[in-house]
Amino acid sequence: MAYRGWMRSQGFTPEVFDGRPVIGIATTWSELAPCNVHLHRVAESVKRGVWQAGGFPLEFPAMALGETLLRPTAMLYRNLLAMEAEELMRANPLDGVVLLSGCDKTTPGLLMAAASVDLPAVMVTGGPMLNGKYQGTDVGSGTAVWRFEEDLVAGRMTQEECVFAEGCMARSNGHCMTMGTASTMASMAGALGMQLPYPATWPAVDARRYETAQRAGQVIVGLVRDDLRPSAIMTRAAFENAIRVNAAIGGSTNAVIHLLAIAGRLGVPLALDDFDVLARDVPTLLNLQPSGQYLMEDFCYAGGLPAVMRELAESGLLHADAITVTGSAVGANVADAPCWNREVIMTMAEPFQPAGTGTAVLRGNLAPGGAVIKQSASSPHLLKHRGQALVFDSPADYYAVSNDPDLDVDEDTMLVIRYCGPRGYPGMPEVSNVALPRKLLLRGVRDMVRICDGRMSGTAYGTVILHVSPEAAAGGPLALVRTGDWITLDVPARALTLEVSDDELAARRAQWQPPAAHASRGWTYLYTEHVLQADAGADLDFLVGASGHPVPKDSH
Ligand code: FES
Repeated sequence: MAYRGWMRSQGFTPEVFDGRPVIGIATTWSELAPCNVHLHRVAESVKRGVWQAGGFPLEFPAMALGETLLRPTAMLYRNLLAMEAEELMRANPLDGVVLLSGCDKTTPGLLMAAASVDLPAVMVTGGPMLNGKYQGTDVGSGTAVWRFEEDLVAGRMTQEECVFAEGCMARSNGHCMTMGTASTMASMAGALGMQLPYPATWPAVDARRYETAQRAGQVIVGLVRDDLRPSAIMTRAAFENAIRVNAAIGGSTNAVIHLLAIAGRLGVPLALDDFDVLARDVPTLLNLQPSGQYLMEDFCYAGGLPAVMRELAESGLLHADAITVTGSAVGANVADAPCWNREVIMTMAEPFQPAGTGTAVLRGNLAPGGAVIKQSASSPHLLKHRGQALVFDSPADYYAVSNDPDLDVDEDTMLVIRYCGPRGYPGMPEVSNVALPRKLLLRGVRDMVRICDGRMSGTAYGTVILHVSPEAAAGGPLALVRTGDWITLDVPARALTLEVSDDELAARRAQWQPPAAHASRGWTYLYTEHVLQADAGADLDFLVGASGHPVPKDSH
């Protein structure tokens, strides 16, 4: 009576407590997370579906992580969202959950939580914004910002034009509409089988976004009745599918970290090198920014994610029998998926970029734990490169001098930006693709090699070596590089080499001092004490694995 009575203060009739499945709807809504601001309305559609199917829906808030506002980075809080949502799902009397996400970290955070609780779960991502439109051309969120910034620095654009352009770029509800991290992770949710086939691509304002949300409400009730749980869906085969789909869509390098973290919650063996090995024979099929031309709205109208997955399935590059939240295998879900525009979604026979141009995993004495580079966003002439390091201990140190006309830099220089990893910044922010020195921009140089232990926005481009592991703050070799050292990058050989002898590195290590702690209390303290390195998904060490969904003791 105590449990039921207080719930009735919301006006529910007694029969909703007759034992029907109770479905939680985890909503990462917030006005501080503009990409997720419409999720309240999405939740209403989910509720319709749950009621229709005979369930009892209850919406609850989960931490909203807005990529653009949160400092020092939303990534610092991904694991906190995952922990909060996990505990809420377990501590409340829920039989299943619908996960509403959008902005970059909310999708992996909720999937990590659902994996650790292992209650039946369906994800509904919020969908991308409509295409940006500026001066008669399409502009992609994120990707255009970097270009506008460069144009502003180089004097090709005025401040007034910049302010006008930003309003043209973000012109509807939804997350970034390039193939950035949000679009990538929405696609990963589909590829893993945790989202219905089409919602990754419907624009946030499209009526079909709400139709599929209602459908997800129906589906979750069925999953509870069939007892189909995330651990049965997100198997090793599902992760292999996700890795290959990520290669085919030209997805964000952030997917590497997030998929490793989700797999870690499930005990699925997944390693950094799997991303290289499994993706090597997958061409990029999507012609989307930042690697290509089009945007998510175009991807949707061209056929969406199922059309890409069908191409992979027909080439034997998908585990077609992997089960999904539809209750059907992924191969069956995409078998008849049509494609309406081959300029956007290309074929395996005539891909946008050939196999082997996706995310590569580099190793060497500069990155013994590995590093990644997104080849499709890089300049081909820089993928084999030798240059001298110009080292900065923070992006701020670099930007303090980046406009200096006397900066000792040329297009062959390798910019090293360090102390940006999980412990370093803290939170591993997306700062690795620092803008080029003004001196080079004015000379027309548009790219140079940058090396960093941080991340890069999925909307960004450039020859940027990311996720160098172990990070500098953890005493990785990156901390030992000095300006003037020679570094060799050989992406075809997957090698990143600091041309400094072991003896010299040992001498430098003896002098190295770890940076001061960022905090002595609170979340930042807990995070920096327990965060794993990028090659292990940057989860907290004590959150790896699952605790299941035991019903805790009564509260009264
Ligand atoms: Fe939210 Fe890009 S800022 S998805």
